[in-house]
Amino acid sequence: MLTQQELKQNAAQAAVDYILPMLRTDVIVGVGTGSTADLFIDGLAMHKERFRGAVSSSDRSSARLSALGVRVFDLNDVQTMPVYVDGADEIDAGLHMIKGGGGALTREKIVASVAERFVCIVDESKLVQKLGRFPLPVEVIPMARAAVARELVRLGGQPVLREGFVTDNGCEILDVAGLAIAQPEQLEAAINNIPGVVTCGLFAIAGADIALMSTQDGVRELRA
Ligand code: A5P
Repeated sequence: MLTQQELKQNAAQAAVDYILPMLRTDVIVGVGTGSTADLFIDGLAMHKERFRGAVSSSDRSSARLSALGVRVFDLNDVQTMPVYVDGADEIDAGLHMIKGGGGALTREKIVASVAERFVCIVDESKLVQKLGRFPLPVEVIPMARAAVARELVRLGGQPVLREGFVTDNGCEILDVAGLAIAQPEQLEAAINNIPGVVTCGLFAIAGADIALMSTQDGVRELRA
């Protein structure tokens, strides 16, 4: 029986193997945030001579990349990336995701939007029939926290401020429990339209292109 850590390691290694054919000395790789992404960074860094560098979705991942000798680029200096690799807190069969458990959702969405392909790396515990068991992270401008929370209650959620947490963008996170996410694209658009919301952790309008899901029987490739 593989442990969850071993399952994460297998998904991360599968992503390294998946992107190896894309690497060239002028290629920049998009890199996500979280414990699975950390393992991907470790594997990716072993091939650092084969690509130019990375754009990361968090200060935490940038520090890890730099420590391993991978050059980290500012997204403003990069026009294209063949791939963005990141974990998720939940994923459904349509490859819609809830992300942001680590609080990096906004930069994750930005970097993913610039990359040509989003490769999601998860262990099988993250696969759900319907999104919403994991409280949905919503990044908010601090002065709008209460106003946004009232709107989220109107949408059926129970928002809770992530105490003592400030995002890399200097904002706050509301974790929203109790949302019935029957229509993820519509809910993503509705939440993103609330004034004061920076972004919500639903990645449904643009989900993953491929998921490498680690199971006890090996890594399965899922496509939407
Ligand atoms: C970070 O903000 C999140 O979106 C992560 O991608 C997500 O929390 C998955 O993290 P783990 O790989 O640690 O489960």
